Amino acid sequence: MILSTISHFQLLCCLVLLLILPLPLYSADPDPLQDFCVADLKASASLNGFPCKLAAEVTSGDFFFDGLSKEGNTTIFGSAVTPANVLAFPGVNTLGISMNRVDFAPGGLNPPHSHPRASESGIVIKGKLLVGFFTTNNVFYSKVLSAGEMFVIPRGLIHFQKNVGEGKALAFTAFNSHLPGAVIVPTTLFASTPSVPNQVLTKTFQVDDDLISTIKSKFGS
Ligand code: GLV
Ligand code: MN
Repeated sequence: MILSTISHFQLLCCLVLLLILPLPLYSADPDPLQDFCVADLKASASLNGFPCKLAAEVTSGDFFFDGLSKEGNTTIFGSAVTPANVLAFPGVNTLGISMNRVDFAPGGLNPPHSHPRASESGIVIKGKLLVGFFTTNNVFYSKVLSAGEMFVIPRGLIHFQKNVGEGKALAFTAFNSHLPGAVIVPTTLFASTPSVPNQVLTKTFQVDDDLISTIKSKFGS
C-alpha cells in the first residue's frame, strides 16, 4: 500500500542512499582491518599509511609512549608542538587517532595552521589561551579558554592558539588521523623550499619587495 505511493525514482534514491550511508563519510582515516598494525617505519615498501610490523615482533612497548610527558622547547613563535602521531608513536598506525602536546611560553603563539587530514579537539591544562579558527567564508570564531576547557577545530580550517595568561600555558590536542599533517601558514609562505618568488608574495599582501625579504629573513630564508 505504502509502496504504491512511492515512485520508482524515489525508491531508487532510497536504495542508493542506503548503499552510500555505511561509507565513512565523516571519518578521516579509514577503519582498521585488524586489531592493530604497529607501523614498520623502516619498511622499504610504501603505501597509503605504513606497513605493519610482524606480529611476532610486536611488544607492549609499541602501545605506550612517554613523549608527551616532557615540556617542549619553544620556537621563535613561543610555542612547542610535540607530536604523538604515527611517526613518533608507531602503535597508532591505522587507528585513526593521534595527539599533540602544545607548550606555550608567556605570550607564545601556536601560529595559524591547518590539518589537511583531521579535525582537532583540544583541552587546556594550564594557563589561558585565546583559541580561534576561520571558516572558508572568512568568519572568525574565537574564545579565551582556561584550564579544563575544551575546543574543536573542524578539519582543514586554519586555526591558532595564543597564550594570553600571565605565565606559561599547556594544552593537549587530539586528532582523528594517525598523521593529521600541518600546513603552517607563515613557514609555508615564507620558509618553503624552494622559496616562493617575492613577486607572488608582494602581490598577495600588497606590500613591497623589501618587506617580503625582511619577513623571509626572520625564518632564515
Ligand atoms: C594545535 O592546534 C595542534 O595542532 O596541536
Ligand atoms: Mn592544530
